[in-house]
Amino acid sequence: MGEELSPTLVVREFDLNKDRERVETVERSCEVGPSGKLSLFTDMLGDPICRVRHSPAFLMLVAEIGEEIVGMIRGCIKTVTCGKRLSRNGKYNNTNVKHVPVYTRVAYILGLRVAPNQRRMGIGLKLVHRMESWFRDNDAEYSYMATERDNLASIKLFTDKCGYSKFRNPSILVNPVFAHRARVSPRVTIVSLSPSDAEFVYRRHFATTEYFPRDIDSILNNKLNLGTFLALPNGSYSAETWPGPDLFLSDPPHSWAMVSVWNTKEVFTLEVRGASRLKRTLAKTSRLVDRALPWLRLPSMPDLFRPFGFQFMYGLGGEGPEGVKMVKALCGFVHNLAMEKGCSVVATEVSSNEPLRFGIPHWKMLSCEDLWCMKRLGEDYSDGSVGDWTKSQPGMSIFVDPREV
Ligand SMILES: CC(C)(COP(=O)(O)OP(=O)(O)OC[C@H]1O[C@@H](n2cnc3c(N)ncnc32)[C@H](O)[C@@H]1OP(=O)(O)O)[C@@H](O)C(=O)NCCC(=O)NCCS
Repeated sequence: MGEELSPTLVVREFDLNKDRERVETVERSCEVGPSGKLSLFTDMLGDPICRVRHSPAFLMLVAEIGEEIVGMIRGCIKTVTCGKRLSRNGKYNNTNVKHVPVYTRVAYILGLRVAPNQRRMGIGLKLVHRMESWFRDNDAEYSYMATERDNLASIKLFTDKCGYSKFRNPSILVNPVFAHRARVSPRVTIVSLSPSDAEFVYRRHFATTEYFPRDIDSILNNKLNLGTFLALPNGSYSAETWPGPDLFLSDPPHSWAMVSVWNTKEVFTLEVRGASRLKRTLAKTSRLVDRALPWLRLPSMPDLFRPFGFQFMYGLGGEGPEGVKMVKALCGFVHNLAMEKGCSVVATEVSSNEPLRFGIPHWKMLSCEDLWCMKRLGEDYSDGSVGDWTKSQPGMSIFVDPREV
């Protein structure tokens, strides 16, 4: 369709030196969100590949008509867990049987944009098709994308024209960083884990979670990773008595939780556009009051109407009857970390079934439901015991890779 209606349309790989400014012009003209409402603008700080460049394999394509760039798309490929199977060699839980992950190569499409004056001419479709052929050439078995639930254009493009089906609907939970420090329960101890200890716990405890990345070590060792934190009941373990991950998992306290934190502020900033003067004034006033009287712990709205950075919590998990309480303490701790780093919000994304989500403080007005659509790229391979992943039921949890936020 694109070829016929726009004979000079060329889709080619993005060239940082040649295309950067023209790509930024298109990004600026595209606002994600229905017109007439608030929209979120992303500034990639001069690096349009920033949202995929930390993935093991990535590609950015641009669509060009003459000298004008009219659209772009990013994609990346990685190996993740798509299910689990029983293995007879497990040595934990005093049994010889344990669940082990089943991995697959999955591709992710993000940052698809078409200039507003060039829409409905088949350019978006052509960009998706070209990206999918790169996925296939690189042995990806599935492709997925995430969008807001009300982004009709995007949903229709992928489901009606590209064969994707609605797959998961995780929640993006966003909490403002206040001008006062958040309270962390004095009955909870927070222990910071080294990347190698964190990797051990993740592989042992979370590897069967859907979308768990097999290269978790490269995420934990990335300079954007601010750390992994464990919340424990007082009197169990502390930084001084931390026995190492192996002993910890063989004799854990009755409840615990962990989370890792990613610093997206170094990669891109966000800005809320389209807010009325009244809303901006109310936000500013709440902030001034909170800053002047921090001991009152009044919830205040940060200035989201200018470029701001955020921290992303990922790998959230835990166990025990007080798991939710542990998560709450972790979120308070991360809030204070974000405050020190000058971030305006803390965000996370969790499965709609996640039992620990009740411990995550968030503002409804800043949070939203996401929609992930997925497609199987080929028919000539087997997923072993998992079968076709696109037809599987959602698990309790989902691992959201911070590299693709
Ligand atoms: C979504 C977007 C990339 C579509 O690009 P596009 O070049 O206009 O899409 P196409 O012309 O290739 O459309 C292909 C099909 O998608 C669907 N579609 C596209 N825009 C649509 C719209 N506004 N309403 C309903 N369906 C739409 C239609 O099925 C369309 O086929 P048709 O024209 O034969 O009916 C573009 O609207 C955009 O840049 N939006 C803002 C950014 C965004 O939301 N990106 C997606 C994030 S994942």
